[in-house]
Amino acid sequence: MSESTDSTRPEFWNERYERGRTPWDLHRVPAALMAFIGRSSAGSVLIPGCGTGYEIEAFAQAGWEVTAIDFSPPAVEQARTRLGALGRHVILGDFFNYDFGSCCFDVVYERTFLCALPPNTWTDYTARIARLLRPSSLLADIFLYGEEDEPPPYPLVESSATALLGSLFTLARTDPVNDSLPLFVGRERWQEWRRI
Ligand SMILES: C[S@@+](CC[C@H](N)C(=O)[O-])C[C@H]1O[C@@H](n2cnc3c(N)ncnc32)[C@H](O)[C@@H]1O
Repeated sequence: MSESTDSTRPEFWNERYERGRTPWDLHRVPAALMAFIGRSSAGSVLIPGCGTGYEIEAFAQAGWEVTAIDFSPPAVEQARTRLGALGRHVILGDFFNYDFGSCCFDVVYERTFLCALPPNTWTDYTARIARLLRPSSLLADIFLYGEEDEPPPYPLVESSATALLGSLFTLARTDPVNDSLPLFVGRERWQEWRRI
């Protein structure tokens, strides 16, 4: 069976989750996210492209109201199986089309979601996230920076990040990520972009 090459399609991801070929999966909560949760007041958080969703537990245990979404059925199944009762927080759906109901979230958190999407979809990503966040709330993310090798992933560079987010968000914080997978080492940054 040949693999799908279009990462905007669930099939691309389904094949990888079904075969256990998920080299991006950290299998734990990133340290930078734990630090963020530790210094933040609980609120509502949306996790787009959550995959197996380790972060859901961390937010829920700290009292956050968590909504996570992924459009790959095997990813959602794996997340729900692992999460048990917390699996109710995981929606099977397309982040770009799903009706989340009334606006808005206090935080959108993501890791390796933007870089999974081809750059020709990135303006839709920004517009969608901006619509889902109230003014002054945060896009908190672990973004991949650097040179594009064999996409996906599609990494950012400073100029593309500013072009993408700069008109709707201000960069409030950047920290190095010290617990990256070998695949991403030296290229991940914890960033907090505040909705204008
Ligand atoms: C590289 S994986 C990252 C998964 C997870 N964030 C992690 O850190 O392990 C990208 C994820 O985004 C999901 N995805 C891609 N496009 C999506 C969309 N339009 N709506 C919902 N999920 C999407 C894929 O199914 C996949 O699980």
